[in-house]
This record gives sequence, C-alpha cells and structure tokens, in this order.
Amino acid sequence: MNLTPEEREIGKQNYDDAVNVSRRAFLKSAAVAPALGAFYFGYEKLHDNPVRVGFIGTGDEGNVLITQHPPEYLDVVALADLRPSNQKRALYGDGNEDRVGFIKKLGAEKAKAITIYDDHIKLLQDPRVEAVIIAVPLNMHAQIAIDALRAGKHVLSEKLMAHNITQCKEMIKEAHLAKRLLAVGHQRHYSVLYDNANDLVKLGLLGDVKFIRACWHRNNSWPGIDSWNKKVPEEDQAALASRIKDYGFDSVEQLCRWRLFNKTGGGLMAELGSHQLDASSIFLGKVHPIAVQGYGGRNFYGVKGVGSKDKQADPREIDDQVFVTFEFPGPHYKEDPHDVVVVTYSSINTNRFEPYGETVMGSRGTLIVEQEQNVMLFKEAGGDTGGGGPGQRLRVVQGEHGGGAVLEASASLAPTSAAAATGSLGKVSRGYTEEMEHFAYCIRSNNFDPPDKGGLRCPGKTAMADAIMALTANLAMKHKKRIVFKDEWFDPDSPAVPETDAEVLA
Ligand SMILES: NC(=O)c1ccc[n+]([C@@H]2O[C@H](COP(=O)([O-])OP(=O)(O)OC[C@H]3O[C@@H](n4cnc5c(N)ncnc54)[C@H](O)[C@@H]3O)[C@@H](O)[C@H]2O)c1
Repeated sequence: MNLTPEEREIGKQNYDDAVNVSRRAFLKSAAVAPALGAFYFGYEKLHDNPVRVGFIGTGDEGNVLITQHPPEYLDVVALADLRPSNQKRALYGDGNEDRVGFIKKLGAEKAKAITIYDDHIKLLQDPRVEAVIIAVPLNMHAQIAIDALRAGKHVLSEKLMAHNITQCKEMIKEAHLAKRLLAVGHQRHYSVLYDNANDLVKLGLLGDVKFIRACWHRNNSWPGIDSWNKKVPEEDQAALASRIKDYGFDSVEQLCRWRLFNKTGGGLMAELGSHQLDASSIFLGKVHPIAVQGYGGRNFYGVKGVGSKDKQADPREIDDQVFVTFEFPGPHYKEDPHDVVVVTYSSINTNRFEPYGETVMGSRGTLIVEQEQNVMLFKEAGGDTGGGGPGQRLRVVQGEHGGGAVLEASASLAPTSAAAATGSLGKVSRGYTEEMEHFAYCIRSNNFDPPDKGGLRCPGKTAMADAIMALTANLAMKHKKRIVFKDEWFDPDSPAVPETDAEVLA
C-alpha cells in the first residue's frame, strides 16, 4: 500500500476516533495491559486457583506462549519436548524478547520446579496436569490432542487445528466424549484490535464490502534466514535418531523442518493463510465461503538459474508461492446470489515490501489491518458527504432518517504529529495471553457454552472451519479447479470431508 507516513498516521487516527471515546480509551489500555482482556472479553480473574497446566512442544511457538502465559490463570507444573535443545530453551529462552523462557518469566525457583519430560506421553501420565497447551508440528496435533483428552486433560492446541478434516472431526468427538474443553489457538479471536476493527465493519462504516485483499509476504531469499529451514542441532540428532520414528516422523530433520514436507505440514495456507482467512471470515460475519480456486507452485527454491548461487540446499516439497481467490456470501446472498464478496490471499517467499495484513474494501471506506498491530481507516472520495482519500481526517456521523453510521470528512480534526500518536499506543497484545486466560477461566467455571454465549471464542467447530478453508485451498491448487464448499464438511457430526470428496478428487 503506497501511503505516505502522514497518510498512515491520519488513517490510524481516523480509526482511533471511529472507535467511540470510552471504547477507545479502553482499547489503548487493554492493548498494552493484557490484564484488562478479562474485562473486555467478559471473563473473571482466577483468584488463587490457577489451572495446573503442562506445555507440550516448546519450540518457536511454544516459547512465545510460555512468554505470554498468565501465571494468575495458569500454574505450569510440567513441560514436554522431544528435542533437548528446546527443553533448554523453555527454561533459559533464546535471547529473543518474545521467547524469554520460564526462568526469566517466573523466577529461577519456580522454573526449576517444573518437571521436564522428553515426550508428551509421559507428561500426560502426570496426575497433577489438568490441562495442556500443545504447540507441536501439524501432523501431530490430532494424535496428541486426542491422547490428552483421553487422559482427561483439557486441551488448547495451536492452529491449524489438524492435518486433515477427518482428524478435526475426531478431535471434536473425543472432547465431547471426554467432557473436556478443546480450544484452538487462532489468537485473532482474542485480539482487542481485531474486535474493535470488526465492530466498525459491523457498524456499516465501510458501506458494501465487496473485496478483501489479504497477504503474508516474506523474503527468505538470502541463505540461512528461512526459519522454516533451520539447521538441525547435533544434540537433537544424537538424542533422537534411534527413536524418532516412534513419534510420527521419518527423521530428526523432518521433525526440525516439519513445515517443508507434505507429511508433516500444510504449506503456506496452513501456516500463514489460515490466520488471515480466519480474520477475513470474522470481518464477513464468520460465514462459510462459497468456493475457492488458486495457483500454487515451488517457483523459487531449487529452480535452475533463480536465486542466490550459494543458497543452501532446500528439501521442500511445499509450494513457495500461493495465490488463492475465495468467494464469500455477502449479507444478502440468500435473497440474491450476486451478493458475493471476493477475498484474495497471497503468500510469497521472495519479497516483503508489503509484509502482512488484511485490507477490507467497501463502497464507502477502506480498513487496513497491518501485522496485528495497526489499523487504518480511510473514506472513499466523493458522494453526498464529500471529501475522502488517504489525506482526510474523518468523523463518524449517524446517517440521515435513522440510517446507519457513515464517515464524514472533518476539517476540525487536525492531524496530530506522527510521533505523538504512535507513542501513545505501545505494543498491541496479539491475543495469546487473553486466549490462555479465557481457556483457564472456562475450565474453572465449567463453561462449555458456544462463543456467542461467553464460551471459548475459538472452539473445535470454529477452528475446523478455518482448517477447511486452508486445506480446501490446497486441494484447489493441487487439482487446479474451483471447489465449491459443502455445508456437511462444516458439520462435526457428518463424516463428509473435502479430502475424500468424490467431486473434489474427480
Ligand atoms: N498462532 C500462531 O501465530 C502460530 C505461530 C507459529 C506457529 N504456530 C503453530 O505452533 C505449532 C508449533 O510450531 P513451532 O514453530 O513452535 O514448531 P517447532 O518445530 O519450533 O516446535 C515444535 C516442537 O514440538 C516438539 N514435539 C513434537 N512432537 C512432540 C511430542 N510427541 N512430544 C513433545 N514434544 C513434541 C518438537 O520437538 C519441537 O520442539 C505449529 O502447529 C504451528 O502452526 C502458531
């Protein structure tokens, strides 16, 4: 998006102003002080009764969750990881401020009391553990979640929910049988920033939304910087070579670089696209898509004559570039099938000029969410109220004759300085802490209600819809066809799934 720094600042201020005054004040404090998430999302603090939890998988994401976990809600009694290097990382961190480790987070005494297991099976036998937080490679999500549910533990598993939809349905069934909670870590459901942005879309400020453009672009073209293709530590190789096949992997290399292989990962759509399709479907009222088509290819890595000559060997099977187009139903789709909203999604490995985010384009305005941190709001130029474009300060006014809220250009709202506006917000919580707080709260309050009644905001059924979008996009690219989504795929009680659907495979 080609915006000047001034236009960006104006867009942020427009967004800030559009969120009403009390809500805006709350947004700022909730965004920087996660404790207020409880108040915002309507759950209570757990006074002196935290849930005893075990972390399974303490790699990159497990360590982000360790850093963000709320000790007032979760009492960490155990952790499990196959890799010795990542067991240590869980305690000592890795020098990255997002991954500080338990010692820094909880103090040495408490951290050293955490029992360390070298696989999930042993951790699940620990009777102290009431709930687990799972951050393991995608191919093991279902198996470990089901093992945990059968052992009577509540489960919060990282996204994507599972490697295929049959597994998602099994997980939901097991949670039901075990009478335990099953939550999935699509953290945008707990982001105050997204919630506020979504309120503005629901208010109708953008007019008729017909297009959402989402992307996650990275540049991994320099040798050695791809976090998906890291070196295998010797200590992990030595400790695991003889037993790695017991855990669902062909080799230690496959465990460490699991995102690159079809057996263990789900490609760019599963890892990155699922987040943004989740966000897009939230903006569209959490509706299910109508159809998807797209192109995916391995167009950079290992391609003759392309890229740096000394780039390290790359064993990837997955595509390094995807572009997919989803058709979603608009609010009047049932009365008129022309009311379709198009959502495009791209992910690439060779350019990060526009890193990641979602741009929601309506007939009256545009909302841009950048990297889970910034939101900008602009008005379309022209029409009854005049003005607009990226240089305009806006205010929200009620439409005439009781109509919905509209954006109006405002000369009286002067842009403040960029430094002042940015400094007031600080780093926005991405929702991890709130997700873990609410999970613990629902366990303690025995709350199995659906999301709209105060239950988990991303339970199995919600997360399965995200998995269906991501994995069906993969099927559309693989089979080079437009796939129409079927209602029964989204029904946990139906055995129908896209991966075995005769029309998909025909
Ligand atoms: N929500 C987000 O924004 C987000 C971001 C990144 C990753 N993730 C998800 O988190 C999950 C983990 O990703 P990662 O980047 O941390 O991967 P990683 O490879 O860095 O870590 C995975 C860890 O799981 C361990 N493990 C595997 N099988 C195990 C078993 N049976 N018992 C105990 N430990 C086991 C591995 O040894 C490894 O240390 C993935 O599902 C990924 O999609 C989510």
